[in-house]
Amino acid sequence: MTILVTGGAGFIGANFVLDWVQAEGTPVVNLDLLTYAGNLRNLASLDGDPRHIFVRGDIGDFDRVLGLLQEHRPQAIVHFAAESHVDRSIHGPEDFIKTNIVGSFRLLEAARAYWGDLPQGERDNFRFLHVSTDEVYGSLGPYEPAFHESSPYAPNSPYSASKAASDHLVRAYFHTYGLPVVTTNCSNNYGPYQFPEKLIPLMILNAISGKPLPVYGDGLNVRDWLYVGDHCSAIRRVLAAGRPGETYNIGGYSEKINLDVVKTLCALLDELHPQSPRTPHAELISFVDDRPGHDRRYAIDARKVEDELSWRPAETFESGMRQTVQWYLDNRPWIEDVTSGEYRKWIDENYSQRMAAS
Ligand code: NAD
Ligand code: TYD
Repeated sequence: MTILVTGGAGFIGANFVLDWVQAEGTPVVNLDLLTYAGNLRNLASLDGDPRHIFVRGDIGDFDRVLGLLQEHRPQAIVHFAAESHVDRSIHGPEDFIKTNIVGSFRLLEAARAYWGDLPQGERDNFRFLHVSTDEVYGSLGPYEPAFHESSPYAPNSPYSASKAASDHLVRAYFHTYGLPVVTTNCSNNYGPYQFPEKLIPLMILNAISGKPLPVYGDGLNVRDWLYVGDHCSAIRRVLAAGRPGETYNIGGYSEKINLDVVKTLCALLDELHPQSPRTPHAELISFVDDRPGHDRRYAIDARKVEDELSWRPAETFESGMRQTVQWYLDNRPWIEDVTSGEYRKWIDENYSQRMAAS
């Protein structure tokens, strides 16, 4: 079966495309606009492989998307494309509205037009899998139970609000038009190819260059962490056996405070990269101004996907973090490629004032 992936040159999308070709071996049409977050180097190992068809384009371009669907006749769309970084959504929310809400709407419209013309058997088998986040549920207190599929939506950042809006549209297309959708709401991912604006790769890169490790606020915010390869296997499982109209929470059973995540990285780097300019790496930890509206705690109750679809993560936090640190140490050319002009502009914009104020 051919699938169409959106955002397949980004962090999770690229891991998914590589995983799909390896595990399923069927063609992937990869529609990606190549924003700052998209990088074809992530897919270099598929150069010349006819199973990967890359198309540069916008999910908001209805005609283009419908044309691609009619040309390649995929059995599923796996929708990753998004603006994905909370801090950027605070500095400039407009792109989040354009891509995550309007773009997802146009993609749904193109999917509906294509699906509506399929023969009956193909219509029943078609899936639109929407990749979303646990951040749509808002923030938990320290003793509240983890998010489950019926937790109320309470998004707090422009990013999570835009993802919540897209989740609602996806849900509406099932109820109103019968489009066979499934939604996954996943916790924080980490692993190879993550753009170093997010916590884990940013801290690894700063640590090996002897730069401060900027922990927001008191460092006691809690996230659940999932190795990206496990997220990919969960999506494949939901695509194969998830029930249309349902949502599935995906998590890593790894709730950690940010400070412990950073300390774990520092300890791994002390062991794997003792030649850094400053060791022990934990001496670089520096508390900086908090993120406005910073959600305190996310936690995922992943029992539904475990009970219904027998999915569980294969990696522990310890094994996943070790592989991730090693990957960044082994892939310096990739790092140099992504930390060029635009990246440095973002780091100045996000950190210079926080650091100055702390
Ligand atoms: P990313 O920012 O690394 O990649 C996003 C990709 O989408 C990039 O390749 C970019 O070029 C592409 N893109 C952006 N706008 C586009 C447009 N208009 N048309 C086509 N392509 C466009 O994001 P990620 O971390 O890989 O996240 C992928 C998806 O998973 C997102 O929908 C995100 O909300 C969701 N998610 C992410 C996490 C996480 O921890 N990173 C956790 C849960 C869910
Ligand atoms: P991030 O990777 O941006 O993911 P999200 O905000 O979507 O959870 O941030 C993870 C956590 O790390 C979050 O609580 C904010 C915090 N953080 C820092 O303390 N310092 C940083 O430089 C960054 C980027 C994040």
